[in-house]
Amino acid sequence: MNYQCPVCHEALNAGAGRTLCCGTGHSFDVAKQGYVNLLLAHQSRSRTPGDSRAMLAARSRLFSTKVYDFFAEAIAERIATEHIPGAQLLDVGCGEGYYLEHYLARVPGLSPNQLWGVDIAKEAAKLAAQRKTGAQLCVAASRALPFFPRSFHQIVSIFSPYDLAEIERVLTPGGMFHLAGPAPDHLQALKQIIYDRVAPHAANFDPVLGSERWQEITARTVRRTIQLLPPTITDLFGMTPYYWSATPAQQQSIQSRSELSETLAFEIRSYRFNG
Ligand SMILES: C[S@@+](CC[C@H](N)C(=O)[O-])C[C@H]1O[C@@H](n2cnc3c(N)ncnc32)[C@H](O)[C@@H]1O
Ligand SMILES: [Zn+2]
Repeated sequence: MNYQCPVCHEALNAGAGRTLCCGTGHSFDVAKQGYVNLLLAHQSRSRTPGDSRAMLAARSRLFSTKVYDFFAEAIAERIATEHIPGAQLLDVGCGEGYYLEHYLARVPGLSPNQLWGVDIAKEAAKLAAQRKTGAQLCVAASRALPFFPRSFHQIVSIFSPYDLAEIERVLTPGGMFHLAGPAPDHLQALKQIIYDRVAPHAANFDPVLGSERWQEITARTVRRTIQLLPPTITDLFGMTPYYWSATPAQQQSIQSRSELSETLAFEIRSYRFNG
Protein backbone atom coordinates (compact mmCIF):
# COMPACT_ATOMS: atom_id res chain seq x y z
CA MET A 1 0.00 0.00 0.00
CA ASN A 2 1.25 3.50 -0.84
CA TYR A 3 1.10 6.80 0.95
CA GLN A 4 -0.85 9.54 -0.76
CA CYS A 5 1.11 12.68 -1.64
CA PRO A 6 -0.07 15.36 0.80
CA VAL A 7 0.25 18.04 -1.91
CA CYS A 8 -1.41 16.55 -5.02
CA HIS A 9 -2.93 13.32 -3.62
CA GLU A 10 -1.20 11.03 -6.12
CA ALA A 11 0.55 7.86 -4.93
CA LEU A 12 4.02 8.15 -3.43
CA ASN A 13 6.60 5.61 -4.59
CA ALA A 14 10.24 5.01 -3.72
CA GLY A 15 12.38 7.60 -5.54
CA ALA A 16 16.09 8.23 -5.87
CA GLY A 17 18.10 7.82 -2.65
CA ARG A 18 16.00 7.73 0.48
CA THR A 19 12.95 9.55 -0.85
CA LEU A 20 9.29 9.00 -1.63
CA CYS A 21 8.08 10.78 -4.79
CA CYS A 22 4.80 11.25 -6.64
CA GLY A 23 4.35 11.44 -10.42
CA THR A 24 3.96 15.23 -10.22
CA GLY A 25 7.46 15.58 -8.72
CA HIS A 26 6.82 16.18 -5.02
CA SER A 27 9.53 14.49 -3.01
CA PHE A 28 9.81 13.61 0.70
CA ASP A 29 12.95 12.42 2.48
CA VAL A 30 12.84 9.19 4.43
CA ALA A 31 14.78 9.81 7.68
CA LYS A 32 17.64 7.46 8.44
CA GLN A 33 15.55 5.98 11.28
CA GLY A 34 12.97 4.97 8.65
CA TYR A 35 10.00 7.33 9.07
CA VAL A 36 8.84 9.86 6.49
CA ASN A 37 7.76 13.41 7.21
CA LEU A 38 4.59 14.14 5.21
CA LEU A 39 3.46 17.11 7.31
CA LEU A 40 3.18 20.30 5.24
CA ALA A 41 4.14 23.59 6.87
CA HIS A 42 0.60 25.00 6.77
CA GLN A 43 -0.83 21.87 8.48
CA SER A 44 0.46 22.83 11.91
CA ARG A 45 0.52 26.05 13.87
CA SER A 46 3.72 25.24 15.72
CA ARG A 47 7.20 24.42 14.45
CA THR A 48 7.25 21.49 16.90
CA PRO A 49 3.62 20.30 17.01
CA GLY A 50 2.32 17.50 19.21
CA ASP A 51 3.84 16.17 22.38
CA SER A 52 7.21 17.48 23.51
CA ARG A 53 10.41 15.49 23.62
CA ALA A 54 10.31 15.50 27.46
CA MET A 55 6.75 14.19 27.53
CA LEU A 56 7.54 11.46 24.98
CA ALA A 57 10.66 10.43 26.90
CA ALA A 58 8.73 10.23 30.20
CA ARG A 59 6.10 8.08 28.47
CA SER A 60 8.75 5.74 27.03
CA ARG A 61 10.33 5.26 30.45
CA LEU A 62 6.95 4.65 32.08
CA PHE A 63 5.93 2.13 29.39
CA SER A 64 9.20 0.26 29.89
CA THR A 65 8.10 -0.54 33.46
CA LYS A 66 5.22 -2.57 31.92
CA VAL A 67 2.51 -1.06 34.17
CA TYR A 68 0.50 -0.15 31.03
CA ASP A 69 0.85 -3.62 29.48
CA PHE A 70 -2.59 -4.82 30.64
CA PHE A 71 -4.17 -1.88 28.78
CA ALA A 72 -2.11 -2.38 25.60
CA GLU A 73 -2.97 -6.08 25.69
CA ALA A 74 -6.70 -5.33 26.02
CA ILE A 75 -6.58 -3.09 22.93
CA ALA A 76 -4.53 -5.59 20.94
CA GLU A 77 -7.04 -8.29 21.88
CA ARG A 78 -9.90 -6.19 20.40
CA ILE A 79 -7.92 -5.64 17.22
CA ALA A 80 -7.07 -9.34 16.98
CA THR A 81 -10.77 -10.26 17.19
CA GLU A 82 -11.54 -8.10 14.15
CA HIS A 83 -8.37 -8.68 12.12
CA ILE A 84 -8.77 -9.98 8.57
CA PRO A 85 -5.69 -11.58 6.97
CA GLY A 86 -3.91 -9.06 4.76
CA ALA A 87 -5.91 -6.05 6.05
CA GLN A 88 -4.18 -2.82 7.06
CA LEU A 89 -4.17 -1.32 10.57
CA LEU A 90 -3.58 2.36 11.38
CA ASP A 91 -2.71 3.96 14.75
CA VAL A 92 -3.49 7.70 14.64
CA GLY A 93 -1.42 9.62 17.19
CA CYS A 94 0.76 6.55 17.71
CA GLY A 95 3.23 8.44 19.91
CA GLU A 96 6.52 6.72 20.60
CA GLY A 97 5.30 3.38 19.32
CA TYR A 98 4.71 1.35 22.47
CA TYR A 99 1.30 0.09 21.31
CA LEU A 100 2.58 -0.85 17.84
CA GLU A 101 4.81 -3.47 19.44
CA HIS A 102 1.82 -4.94 21.26
CA TYR A 103 -0.26 -5.18 18.07
CA LEU A 104 2.51 -7.07 16.31
CA ALA A 105 2.97 -9.40 19.26
CA ARG A 106 -0.73 -10.12 19.80
CA VAL A 107 -2.58 -9.83 16.49
CA PRO A 108 -2.04 -13.16 14.74
CA GLY A 109 -1.06 -12.74 11.12
CA LEU A 110 -0.42 -8.97 11.33
CA SER A 111 2.83 -8.16 9.57
CA PRO A 112 4.82 -4.92 9.97
CA ASN A 113 4.08 -3.82 6.41
CA GLN A 114 0.34 -3.85 7.25
CA LEU A 115 0.85 -1.67 10.33
CA TRP A 116 0.88 2.12 9.96
CA GLY A 117 1.56 4.76 12.60
CA VAL A 118 0.95 8.50 12.24
CA ASP A 119 1.92 11.24 14.66
CA ILE A 120 2.23 14.99 14.26
CA ALA A 121 5.37 15.09 16.43
CA LYS A 122 8.56 14.32 14.52
CA GLU A 123 10.17 13.17 17.78
CA ALA A 124 7.37 10.62 18.26
CA ALA A 125 7.87 9.13 14.77
CA LYS A 126 11.61 9.02 15.40
CA LEU A 127 11.25 7.19 18.74
CA ALA A 128 8.67 4.82 17.22
CA ALA A 129 11.07 4.06 14.36
CA GLN A 130 13.84 3.36 16.86
CA ARG A 131 11.76 0.47 18.18
CA LYS A 132 12.56 -1.24 14.87
CA THR A 133 9.23 -3.02 14.57
CA GLY A 134 9.22 -2.53 10.79
CA ALA A 135 5.89 -0.65 11.02
CA GLN A 136 5.29 2.11 8.46
CA LEU A 137 5.69 5.45 10.24
CA CYS A 138 5.05 8.99 9.16
CA VAL A 139 4.69 12.50 10.51
CA ALA A 140 1.27 13.87 9.56
CA ALA A 141 -1.78 15.56 11.08
CA SER A 142 -4.89 13.60 12.04
CA ARG A 143 -6.83 16.18 10.02
CA ALA A 144 -4.94 15.33 6.80
CA LEU A 145 -4.08 11.63 6.77
CA PRO A 146 -1.74 10.83 3.85
CA PHE A 147 -3.68 7.75 2.71
CA PHE A 148 -6.11 6.84 -0.06
CA PRO A 149 -9.81 6.36 0.69
CA ARG A 150 -10.76 2.97 2.16
CA SER A 151 -7.17 1.99 2.94
CA PHE A 152 -7.69 0.49 6.41
CA HIS A 153 -9.88 -2.20 7.90
CA GLN A 154 -9.05 -1.05 11.44
CA ILE A 155 -7.98 2.27 12.97
CA VAL A 156 -6.95 2.89 16.58
CA SER A 157 -6.74 6.17 18.48
CA ILE A 158 -5.39 6.01 22.02
CA PHE A 159 -5.46 9.23 24.07
CA SER A 160 -4.99 11.12 20.80
CA PRO A 161 -6.92 13.69 18.79
CA TYR A 162 -8.78 12.37 15.77
CA ASP A 163 -10.78 13.82 12.91
CA LEU A 164 -13.87 11.74 12.27
CA ALA A 165 -14.27 12.85 8.63
CA GLU A 166 -10.71 11.67 7.93
CA ILE A 167 -11.28 8.37 9.75
CA GLU A 168 -14.42 7.84 7.61
CA ARG A 169 -12.48 8.63 4.43
CA VAL A 170 -9.63 6.18 4.97
CA LEU A 171 -11.57 3.34 6.67
CA THR A 172 -13.33 0.63 4.65
CA PRO A 173 -17.11 0.32 5.10
CA GLY A 174 -17.57 -2.43 7.68
CA GLY A 175 -14.21 -1.51 9.22
CA MET A 176 -13.55 -0.84 12.89
CA PHE A 177 -12.49 2.26 14.80
CA HIS A 178 -11.14 1.57 18.30
CA LEU A 179 -11.06 4.57 20.61
CA ALA A 180 -9.32 4.41 23.95
CA GLY A 181 -8.99 7.05 26.61
CA PRO A 182 -9.12 7.69 30.32
CA ALA A 183 -12.00 6.52 32.51
CA PRO A 184 -13.10 9.18 35.04
CA ASP A 185 -10.95 7.76 37.86
CA HIS A 186 -7.76 7.46 35.79
CA LEU A 187 -4.77 8.94 37.70
CA GLN A 188 -6.96 9.96 40.63
CA ALA A 189 -4.09 10.27 43.09
CA LEU A 190 -2.05 12.59 40.88
CA LYS A 191 -5.07 14.72 40.09
CA GLN A 192 -5.86 15.07 43.81
CA ILE A 193 -2.37 16.38 44.44
CA ILE A 194 -2.62 19.10 41.81
CA TYR A 195 -6.29 20.05 41.78
CA ASP A 196 -8.35 21.21 44.74
CA ARG A 197 -11.40 19.65 43.23
CA VAL A 198 -10.67 16.63 41.05
CA ALA A 199 -11.52 17.51 37.46
CA PRO A 200 -13.13 14.65 35.55
CA HIS A 201 -10.83 13.35 32.87
CA ALA A 202 -12.89 12.17 29.95
CA ALA A 203 -12.22 10.43 26.69
CA ASN A 204 -13.70 12.00 23.57
CA PHE A 205 -16.20 9.47 22.23
CA ASP A 206 -18.86 12.07 21.37
CA PRO A 207 -18.33 12.56 17.63
CA VAL A 208 -18.70 8.82 16.95
CA LEU A 209 -21.63 8.35 19.32
CA GLY A 210 -23.58 11.15 17.64
CA SER A 211 -23.30 9.69 14.14
CA GLU A 212 -25.62 7.21 12.45
CA ARG A 213 -22.71 5.98 10.38
CA TRP A 214 -21.27 4.24 13.44
CA GLN A 215 -22.41 1.36 15.58
CA GLU A 216 -20.85 0.71 18.98
CA ILE A 217 -19.78 -2.95 19.12
CA THR A 218 -18.04 -3.15 22.49
CA ALA A 219 -17.30 -0.84 25.42
CA ARG A 220 -14.95 -2.04 28.11
CA THR A 221 -13.27 -0.43 31.10
CA VAL A 222 -10.00 -1.89 32.30
CA ARG A 223 -8.60 -0.79 35.62
CA ARG A 224 -5.70 -1.53 37.91
CA THR A 225 -4.22 -0.01 41.06
CA ILE A 226 -0.45 0.21 41.00
CA GLN A 227 2.18 1.06 43.60
CA LEU A 228 4.79 3.45 42.27
CA LEU A 229 8.21 4.51 43.48
CA PRO A 230 10.43 7.35 42.26
CA PRO A 231 11.44 8.06 39.50
CA THR A 232 8.40 6.32 37.97
CA ILE A 233 6.04 8.64 39.89
CA THR A 234 7.53 11.64 38.09
CA ASP A 235 7.45 9.82 34.74
CA LEU A 236 3.76 8.96 35.12
CA PHE A 237 3.08 12.60 35.88
CA GLY A 238 5.48 13.89 33.20
CA MET A 239 3.78 11.91 30.41
CA THR A 240 0.52 13.78 31.01
CA PRO A 241 -0.44 17.40 30.36
CA TYR A 242 -1.04 17.76 34.13
CA TYR A 243 2.66 18.12 34.81
CA TRP A 244 3.05 20.97 32.37
CA SER A 245 0.09 22.88 33.79
CA ALA A 246 1.08 22.34 37.45
CA THR A 247 2.81 25.01 39.52
CA PRO A 248 6.49 24.51 40.43
CA ALA A 249 5.37 23.79 44.03
CA GLN A 250 2.95 21.08 42.83
CA GLN A 251 5.66 19.58 40.60
CA GLN A 252 7.98 19.57 43.58
CA SER A 253 5.35 17.88 45.73
CA ILE A 254 5.03 15.05 43.17
CA GLN A 255 8.78 14.71 42.75
CA SER A 256 9.31 14.40 46.50
CA ARG A 257 6.83 11.53 46.99
CA SER A 258 8.55 8.39 48.20
CA GLU A 259 5.65 6.21 47.03
CA LEU A 260 2.26 6.57 45.39
CA SER A 261 -0.71 4.25 45.05
CA GLU A 262 -2.40 5.13 41.77
CA THR A 263 -5.38 4.03 39.71
CA LEU A 264 -4.97 3.36 36.01
CA ALA A 265 -8.42 3.20 34.42
CA PHE A 266 -9.13 3.13 30.70
CA GLU A 267 -12.18 2.95 28.47
CA ILE A 268 -11.85 1.07 25.20
CA ARG A 269 -14.71 1.38 22.75
CA SER A 270 -14.96 -0.24 19.35
CA TYR A 271 -17.21 1.10 16.61
CA ARG A 272 -18.14 -0.42 13.26
CA PHE A 273 -18.29 1.95 10.31
CA ASN A 274 -21.45 1.41 8.32
CA GLY A 275 -20.11 3.45 5.40
C1 LIG B 1 -1.44 11.73 24.72
S1 LIG B 1 -0.42 11.30 23.37
C2 LIG B 1 -0.83 9.59 23.08
C3 LIG B 1 0.21 8.85 22.30
C4 LIG B 1 -0.01 7.35 22.21
N1 LIG B 1 -1.22 7.00 21.52
C5 LIG B 1 -0.01 6.81 23.61
O1 LIG B 1 -1.09 6.57 24.14
O2 LIG B 1 1.08 6.67 24.16
C6 LIG B 1 -1.14 12.13 22.00
C7 LIG B 1 -0.32 11.96 20.73
O3 LIG B 1 -1.01 12.57 19.65
C8 LIG B 1 -0.09 13.34 18.91
N2 LIG B 1 -0.86 14.42 18.27
C9 LIG B 1 -1.30 15.57 18.81
N3 LIG B 1 -2.00 16.28 17.92
C10 LIG B 1 -2.01 15.54 16.78
C11 LIG B 1 -2.56 15.73 15.48
N4 LIG B 1 -3.26 16.83 15.19
N5 LIG B 1 -2.38 14.79 14.55
C12 LIG B 1 -1.66 13.66 14.84
N6 LIG B 1 -1.11 13.43 16.03
C13 LIG B 1 -1.29 14.35 16.99
C14 LIG B 1 0.93 13.82 19.92
O4 LIG B 1 2.16 14.18 19.34
C15 LIG B 1 1.05 12.60 20.83
O5 LIG B 1 2.04 11.70 20.40
ZN1 LIG C 1 2.43 15.17 -5.30
